[in-house]
Amino acid sequence: MKTLFINIKELVQIRNEQIKYVAGKEMKNLPSIKNAFLLIEDEKIIDFGKMTNIPQIKEAKEIDVSGRIIMPTYCDSHTHLVYAGNREGEFVDKINGLSYEEIAQRGGGILNSAKKLAETSEEELYLQSKERLEEIISQGTGAVEIKSGYGLSFESELKMLRVIKRLKENYDIEIKATFLGAHAIPSEYKNDKEGYLQMLIKDLMPIIKKENLAEFVDIFCEKGYFSVEDTEMILEAGKKHGLIPKIHVNQFNAIGGVKAGIKHNALSVDHLEVLNDEDIEELKKSETMPVALPACSFFLGIPYTPARKIINAKLPIALASDFNPGSTPTGNMNFVVATSCIKMKLTPEEAINAATINGAYAMGLENELGSITKGKLASFIITKPVNSYASIPYNFGTNKVDKVYLKGKLQ
Ligand code: NIG
Ligand code: FE
Repeated sequence: MKTLFINIKELVQIRNEQIKYVAGKEMKNLPSIKNAFLLIEDEKIIDFGKMTNIPQIKEAKEIDVSGRIIMPTYCDSHTHLVYAGNREGEFVDKINGLSYEEIAQRGGGILNSAKKLAETSEEELYLQSKERLEEIISQGTGAVEIKSGYGLSFESELKMLRVIKRLKENYDIEIKATFLGAHAIPSEYKNDKEGYLQMLIKDLMPIIKKENLAEFVDIFCEKGYFSVEDTEMILEAGKKHGLIPKIHVNQFNAIGGVKAGIKHNALSVDHLEVLNDEDIEELKKSETMPVALPACSFFLGIPYTPARKIINAKLPIALASDFNPGSTPTGNMNFVVATSCIKMKLTPEEAINAATINGAYAMGLENELGSITKGKLASFIITKPVNSYASIPYNFGTNKVDKVYLKGKLQ
């Protein structure tokens, strides 16, 4: 079936050629057509252009979107949206002055979520997670990466990955799964980190491969969690099981995780709140996408990823939400875009590039999503009547998303 959208105030992020990502100065360029049409057939984009050049199309359903902007859906390349319960108690501890690290040291943090998840059935976990998935779809996300990592045991990690698989099967949003067994050291292995890592590698990875439960492998490379040596070992083992590295690095300390990720051809290195010149030099030699998570910085009150420094070094940057119960209890990419403009000084053009095409690259979907391109999936946002796309970050806190189409289907 064909659907023709007419009188689009501005059709944003149009790309005639397939591109991998945009970097450096190019990020300020967000190509668009004013007063445009968009033609889709079933799940694909088949044509677009100026209203004055609209072709004669037989048997197409016509939808007039006067006053509204159409842009591709967000590609959120870093989330932990499968989790059990919440950490509202820790939120209050944080308000009362405890830091993220102090909360974790008291047995809160990731281990708190792991305890809740172990006590939650797979069915209940699915029901809680699907609500969050539906919420981010309504906010304009059309592709999402979801990590395990609140299981931290053989059974619970599989429980999480099976929930992600079920979400993949039941929704139009594109989902990629990441195995993050090495998110924290569980209490049962308190004095045996090596034993825990061996369990992940020897027991879990073969099943994950056999049941096709993940595309990516991740590790929290950070003081008090996992070292650079642990990171190299997990990435090496992950690659042997067909898992592509995408890792948590430089959130609180720069300990060499960026270099290790690049050495293992990581698709992305995420967080980077603390980034030194050596890391930038490493990134320049690679095809690895640096990913910033500004909503996490906002919530924890930690530094923002130095996005200007990254872009000035001619590098690309992607934006993702980090949706999780501890450091970022929101998956709203409109807020992420707004925060990146307000706090990291990205222009709206840079922010939208970072949250669409660059996000798509950071999850291996740049050929299917991230721009309005003929042949790509018809996954896009129709805004409410707005002055310009800058209204999304400018009117932060106000919902400007009216309708969301995923693979040609109105959600
Ligand atoms: O990306 N930093 C590691 N992991 C998550 C937070 C996990 C949690 O606190 O539950 C993050 O911020
Ligand atoms: Fe994260």
